[in-house]
Amino acid sequence: VIPLTLAPLGFIGGGVMAEAIVARLVGSGLYAPELITVSDPSVERLQLLEQAYGVSTTPRNQELVARVSHLVLAIKPQVLNAIAPEVSALAQPPALVISILAGTPLARLESLFPKSPVIRAMPNTPATVGVGMTVIALGSQVGEQERGIAEAIFQCVGEVLCLEESYLDAVTGLSGSGPAFVAVAVEALADAGVSVGLPRAVALKLATQTVRGTAELIHQGELHPALLKDRVASPGGTTIAGLVALEQANFRHALIAAVQAAYHRSRALAQLPEA
Ligand SMILES: NC(=O)c1ccc[n+]([C@@H]2O[C@H](COP(=O)([O-])OP(=O)(O)OC[C@H]3O[C@@H](n4cnc5c(N)ncnc54)[C@H](OP(=O)(O)O)[C@@H]3O)[C@@H](O)[C@H]2O)c1
Repeated sequence: VIPLTLAPLGFIGGGVMAEAIVARLVGSGLYAPELITVSDPSVERLQLLEQAYGVSTTPRNQELVARVSHLVLAIKPQVLNAIAPEVSALAQPPALVISILAGTPLARLESLFPKSPVIRAMPNTPATVGVGMTVIALGSQVGEQERGIAEAIFQCVGEVLCLEESYLDAVTGLSGSGPAFVAVAVEALADAGVSVGLPRAVALKLATQTVRGTAELIHQGELHPALLKDRVASPGGTTIAGLVALEQANFRHALIAAVQAAYHRSRALAQLPEA
């Protein structure tokens, strides 16, 4: 991979999501480790990131901001108010601010960082294993170059879509919360396996690999899920018997209701006053 940009990149917050992104930015060769700096209050955390990925670190956000031109905010949303003045204090504002903070609108980010183009990104947990789904929404000052940088960064941890910000509550309901819904499905399949006599470890392996393989089949084959289901269900067979049981239990409706509930909760949280 040819490095996309030689612009130094900084992460404020060196937690789970920042590590997932840093690991793959460096691992893929998109960024040389010398170009990346991470700040975090925990010195142990910083030592770990330095040793594992060869990146630079500092416990002081202001020092980080002075060193980099592109910035990723990877702190918890509650910390945003505290770090914003540290970013804005410098004469030279970052040439790009990317926020992965859940539920923090572009309007708020743009008012906190008025001199920088701002991109809001919503990654999901599978990003930590490189199979994430990230949706980005562009602030008003963002051009093609900034968009390209954000897309390249998140392509390192999976797939990226650029959408209007108005979709982000729906995105939160589906790809943001979805890993938890799928995890419950895997757990239930494993329980089911145990209920019909499989040892627990075997049942969990079968359940996990079945969900993984089915998603891959739909993804790689660009196959409509209904077509895959029809191919597996032979007349009078075992699969159609199971499908009938799923319909009786309102399985589809349960998933639809879960995504709708997460979407409504995301909208409600956005209405709450800032902490
Ligand atoms: N994990 C996900 O799947 C996911 C998905 C979508 C969006 N997000 C968003 O990503 C953001 C980070 O999530 P995460 O899971 O990576 O959280 P996390 O593991 O808690 O990481 C946040 C890091 O920021 C550090 N921090 C706290 N105060 C700071 C300060 N003033 N300056 C610099 N760093 C500071 C924390 O240190 P301490 O622990 O010592 O306080 C922690 O290491 C959140 O806003 C979340 O909404 C996460």
